[in-house]
Amino acid sequence: MNETIKILGLESSCDETSAAVIEVAGDDLKCLGSVISSQVNVHAKYGGVVPEVAARLHIEKILPLIKESLKNANCELKDIDAIAACSGPGLISSLIIGVETGKTLAVALNKPLIRVNHIEGHILSVEKDKVGQIKLPAVALVVSGGHTQLILMKDYGEYELIGGTRDDAAGEAFDKAAKILDLGYPGGPAISKEAMKAGGKNEFDIKMPRPMLESGDFNFSFSGIKTAVLYKWNDLKKNLSEHQLEIAKADLAFEFQQAATEVLVEKSIQAAEKYGAKTVILAGGVSANKTLREFLGKAVSERLPGVEFRFPEMQMTGDNAAMIAVAGYYHYKIKDFADPLNLTADPNWELV
Ligand code: KG4
Ligand code: ZN
Repeated sequence: MNETIKILGLESSCDETSAAVIEVAGDDLKCLGSVISSQVNVHAKYGGVVPEVAARLHIEKILPLIKESLKNANCELKDIDAIAACSGPGLISSLIIGVETGKTLAVALNKPLIRVNHIEGHILSVEKDKVGQIKLPAVALVVSGGHTQLILMKDYGEYELIGGTRDDAAGEAFDKAAKILDLGYPGGPAISKEAMKAGGKNEFDIKMPRPMLESGDFNFSFSGIKTAVLYKWNDLKKNLSEHQLEIAKADLAFEFQQAATEVLVEKSIQAAEKYGAKTVILAGGVSANKTLREFLGKAVSERLPGVEFRFPEMQMTGDNAAMIAVAGYYHYKIKDFADPLNLTADPNWELV
């Protein structure tokens, strides 16, 4: 008879508060209850996350969300085997809410506490109905508002950084480009929607750079494309009519998305080739981007025959506690527990 493990995950590293209960029975994985409260609409009017506001909302939401996730999972705190809290990287004022809540629960219930790295959570968000299914080694492209990294996953818990951004994260570039084009926050979905209007045409034949495409390493740079968007947009505004500008805006969003996607895809494929990856993983908030999913999926099937392409379900792309609980499970298995009295949030915790 296989042991059944229930883990309560907590996530509050940025502007999403989330609690989730997962169950692992043998290698069967089930998310019994997952709730996410996004603050995105609150921060939208400021054009980005305001840390003090985020912290206050995490405090308000975390306990009701834990209750709700337990209710959805049809279980009580006493049924939980361990608590997994995301303790970094992220905003310190946000992280501490989840971490302190986890510590308190662990002490009060006398249950093990697991500290989970947010990036590991994103990587393992691609685990669906079963645990331990990622064919190794894997190359993971983790793209979010705060991170753009290529990570070699040699084993569960064993990671190596093979590349990263030198400046802006990919999601940050989407957010900034959207701000320039007055498309609102968060910029990723807004750029994507605007780009769709171009219908794949790019009538104004707008060209954006593909930064570091030929750099021969696995690093990225996105601040240049963002600046290129700014200059191009200012230029277009001077020379086009209002109607033309509307079309050009969609073209610019389209070309920006193409440029960012091409660089991300190319470097991921080259990294997978170099490290003999059996799986390519796409994860993080930007993995919700349809163009990126399609292009990377196509490139893997055409250029890396036999290699699996894994990406999270839509509701698992952004920050969520289910991915934290899944990552927590692997630490639970090896009894990698944190001290519930002394664990501290680490805003700069590097996975590798
Ligand atoms: O992982 P996440 O929820 O939070 C961080 O850990 O940063 O990622 C949020 C980022 C934002 O920058 C947002 O604009 C981006 O993910 N994003 C997207 C899309 N949906 C969200 N970027 C491109 N296309 C999308 N569809
Ligand atoms: Zn994230």
